[in-house]
Amino acid sequence: MMAGMFITLLFLLGLSVCSATITVKIPQKSYKIARGDNVTIPCGFTPQPDTSTMTIMWTATPNNPGDPVLSILTYFYPSKSIRVFKNYKGRAGLTVDITKGQADLQLYGLTNTDTRVYECTVQSVDDDGDSPSDTTNLIVLVAPSIPKCTVQGKTEYFQDITFNCSSEEGTPTPTYKWQIYDVNNMARPNPPKATDLNGVLSLYNISKDASGYYVCTSSNEIRSAKCNLTVAVMPPSMNMASTSVMIGAAAGVLLLFVIFIIICCYCRRRKDKNEEYAMGAPEGEEFTDHDPDEKDKPVDYKEERTVKSADRQDPPDDRSERSYDRRSDYNDRRDRRDNYDDRRDRYDDRNDDRRDQNDDRRDRYDDRRDRYDDRRDRYDDRRDRYDDRRDRYDDRRDQYDDRRDRYDDRSDRYNDRHDRYDDRRDRNDDRYNSDNYSEPYDSRSRPPSLPPNKPKDPKN
Ligand SMILES: *[C@@H]1O[C@H](CO)[C@@H](O)[C@H](O)[C@H]1NC(C)=O
Ligand SMILES: *[C@@H]1O[C@H](CO)[C@@H](O)[C@H](O)[C@H]1NC(C)=O
Ligand SMILES: *[C@@H]1O[C@H](CO)[C@@H](O)[C@H](O)[C@H]1NC(C)=O
Ligand SMILES: *[C@@H]1O[C@H](CO)[C@@H](O)[C@H](O)[C@H]1NC(C)=O
Repeated sequence: MMAGMFITLLFLLGLSVCSATITVKIPQKSYKIARGDNVTIPCGFTPQPDTSTMTIMWTATPNNPGDPVLSILTYFYPSKSIRVFKNYKGRAGLTVDITKGQADLQLYGLTNTDTRVYECTVQSVDDDGDSPSDTTNLIVLVAPSIPKCTVQGKTEYFQDITFNCSSEEGTPTPTYKWQIYDVNNMARPNPPKATDLNGVLSLYNISKDASGYYVCTSSNEIRSAKCNLTVAVMPPSMNMASTSVMIGAAAGVLLLFVIFIIICCYCRRRKDKNEEYAMGAPEGEEFTDHDPDEKDKPVDYKEERTVKSADRQDPPDDRSERSYDRRSDYNDRRDRRDNYDDRRDRYDDRNDDRRDQNDDRRDRYDDRRDRYDDRRDRYDDRRDRYDDRRDRYDDRRDQYDDRRDRYDDRSDRYNDRHDRYDDRRDRNDDRYNSDNYSEPYDSRSRPPSLPPNKPKDPKN
C-alpha cells in the first residue's frame, strides 16, 4: 500500500510537471476525538482554474483487512450533488468549496468503531485512472468515568489506611492522582511516608491531622474526573465499630438480665404457692383435733401450729364418753366450720387469681417499657425495676402480714366460739353430774336437727 502510494505520488509529481495536476493533503497524520463528540477532518487539494468535472470521495478502512473499503460519501461537480452511504446516513457531512480546494469531512456522534484510517480522494477528467488522495488516523478516545474513591482500614489514630481510586472506563487508560485537603479545605502535601501509586494512596500511623478531604483525579489525554472522600480520624474508643460492639454487648447483658428476672418471678411464684399450702393446711385441722381447754391461751400463729401438731399426736380420749347429743351438736358446728373453710378457700383462690393478674399486668407493662426505651434509659429502668421489685416484695410482705392478721382475727373468733362451746360443755357436764339428766333439755340448748328417737342418755 505504501509502495502504491509512493508510486502514485511519483506519478502525480510527473503529471504536475506536464500539466496542472491535483494534489490532495490532510493536515494531520492523526486526530484524537472524545467519544460522542463531532469531528471535522480537513482535506485540501490544488484548485483547478478550468475545472469541468470533478468527484470527491471519502472512504475508510474496513473492519476486516480483506473486505472492500467503507464508502462514506461522494460529491459530484458540477451537479454539486452529495451521496452519503448507508452506514453513515445522518451522521456524516461535507464542507466543500471547489474554487478554494476544500472538501472537509464531518462525522457526528463518534463511537468506538469510528477509530479507523480515513482517505480523501479527488478525481478529475484529467486523471488517467489513479486519482490523488491522502489518509489520516482517527482515534476515538473515551473520557475517564467518574472514579470510585474507597478507603480501607480503620480511620483511627495510629492505624495504617489505604485509599483506592479507580475509573471503570477510559481510553487510553486513565492515570490517578490523590490530593489531600485539610479540614479547612486547604491543599496539604502528602505525609512523608505516604505512597501514591496507580490510584492507591497509603498512609501510615495516622493521627488527627489525617482528617480532611481526599480528592482523587482520574485523567487521560482528553479529560479528567474527580471523586471526593471525607475522612474523620477518631480516637480508638470513639470508633463506630467499637461502639456497635458495645451496643451488642449491652443488648446481650440485657437479654441475660430479662431471663434472670423471668426465672426469679417463676421461682418466687412457686415459693408463694408453697407458703400458702403450708399456711392453709393446719387451718382445717384446728377445728377437728384442737383441745378446747387450751383455747384461753393467747397464742400466736407459730405456737398454735406446734401445739396443734402436738395435739394430733395425743388426741384426748375423754371425748369418746361424751353424749351423742353433744357430739351431733359438735358435728353440726363442724359442718358449719367446713362451710366457712370452703368459703375462705374460695376467697383465697380469688385473691391468688387477682394477684396473678396483677403480676401479669405488671410484667406486660415492664416488657413494653423495655421495648420502647433507649439504651441509656434502660439502664435507669433496670435500677427502677430493682426498686420496683423491692416495693413489690414489701407489698407482698404486707399482704402476708395482712393475711396473718386475718388469720389471727379468725383464730380469736374461733377461740370465742370454742369458749362458748366450753361454757356449754361445762353446763352440760354440770347437768350430767347432778343426776338431773333425766330431765328434758331446754329446747333452746338443743339443736333443732336432733333426731327425736335418739336416746338422750346412753345409760337409759
Ligand atoms: C455535534 O453536532 C450536532 C449536529 O450538528 C450538534 O447538535 C451537537 O451539539 C454537536 N455535538 C458536540 C459535542 O459538539
Ligand atoms: C481498587 O479498586 C478497584 C475497583 O474497585 C479494584 O479492582 C482494585 O483491586 C482495587 N485496588 C486495591 C489495591 O484495592
Ligand atoms: C505513631 O505515632 C505516634 C505519635 O503520633 C508515635 O508515638 C508512635 O511511636 C508511632 N508509632 C509507630 C509504629 O511509628
Ligand atoms: C470535597 O467535598 C467537600 C464536602 O463535600 C467540599 O467542601 C470540598 O470542596 C470538596 N473538594 C473538592 C476538590 O471537590
